[in-house]
Amino acid sequence: MSERLVMTGGTVVDQHGERRLDVRIADGCVVETGPSLVVDPSVEQQLDVSGCIVGPGFVDLHTHLREPGMTEAETIESGSKAAARGGYTAVVAMPNTDPTQDCVEVVKFVRQRGIEVGLCDVRPSGSITVGRAGESLTPFAELAAVGVHLFTDDGSGVQDDGLMRRALEYAGELGLVLAQHCEVASLTRGAVMHEGECCSHLGLPGWPALAEELMVHRDIELVRLTGSPVHLLHLSTARSVELVRAAKADGLPVTAEATPHHISLTDESLRAFDARFKVNPPLRTMADVEAVRGGLADGTIDAIATDHAPHPSRAKERPLDEAPPGMLGLETSLGVARSVLGLGWQQLFALLSWQPATIAGLGEVHGRPVAVGEPAHLVVIDQNAEWSVDPMQLASLSTNTPYVGMTLQSRVRHTIFHGRPVVIDGMVNA
Ligand code: DOR
Repeated sequence: MSERLVMTGGTVVDQHGERRLDVRIADGCVVETGPSLVVDPSVEQQLDVSGCIVGPGFVDLHTHLREPGMTEAETIESGSKAAARGGYTAVVAMPNTDPTQDCVEVVKFVRQRGIEVGLCDVRPSGSITVGRAGESLTPFAELAAVGVHLFTDDGSGVQDDGLMRRALEYAGELGLVLAQHCEVASLTRGAVMHEGECCSHLGLPGWPALAEELMVHRDIELVRLTGSPVHLLHLSTARSVELVRAAKADGLPVTAEATPHHISLTDESLRAFDARFKVNPPLRTMADVEAVRGGLADGTIDAIATDHAPHPSRAKERPLDEAPPGMLGLETSLGVARSVLGLGWQQLFALLSWQPATIAGLGEVHGRPVAVGEPAHLVVIDQNAEWSVDPMQLASLSTNTPYVGMTLQSRVRHTIFHGRPVVIDGMVNA
């Protein structure tokens, strides 16, 4: 018998608004919705979701799954579990694996492993340059033929202006999207934290906001020249947000994302020299945090993306200047966004689900309305839950969350992937 499920008592939120609806699922799709569906317990499972929000599953544009190569930190299996627990039904896997996702073999491996695990849709990105070395372009067309839509050298930005121009022209012709990690490397060598008052006080090498803003500006101008779209990863400064706002006002095909940590934490967190708060781009000032929140609220920034970046404890326990940058994000993103943004459910779903789905080229399958005939990739949220983060309880293999001891609001209760409850009451149903 195929999996049949009825969710009763919930409030559905999607592109069409917010309304009380029960949802019947069969064969991986939504087959019926209505204010009070009758359940037949002999053939279908009932999930009572009274008081909960039911909406399209989240889509993360920015997940580091670490496999192949760094499976001490995360695997496609553990990362998929973390994603499912965070309400994600699709994640774009970043290419800074070892070997790099710069060729068909590695991309196929990641995709295949994601399918075998079967907890969410794992979509590998491809790197823009071979080995992410910034010198020669990867075979975009070959990679697109095996399903890659988003290309990025994330972890570093493409430094060479001419190469970035060619990459945009090439991607534009093929209908692909380039996602830029905006960082001018010559301005951030040896940097540990945001360059500003706090960093001077601590006597640590600073990471200027300008390093990000220069590349945001350059890429916007290259988009103006080529007409090809660009997606700007993890924006962290007030000026970056302004630049994107102006580019959109000019009608340029520029999209952008922000992470949960850049809307919830500041450079002040580094005062205890704790490397859990070291991240690239770095945590900035409260004025930057407010500007990024403003960008999400007014539509300048299109998506909340986690930049889920697991690292083993022994790496994060190294001195601040030696520890790698990055923090976990998949299991806490909803709670952080709900706690700090003060946005309504529909706007939050736009930022976590259908807008990132469109940028990832997944808009036909993920982030769909909760309606008859649509694929059943859904999340159920206990909107009134308050919880505190225990790193040992996370599904991720790593524990480098910056949110220990913080109380978060709202929590993912169930995640439905291809019509199957892969998370029930917060637990992975493998
Ligand atoms: O903090 C970060 N960590 N930023 C990045 O861009 C890369 C990531 C990683 O791979 O650890």
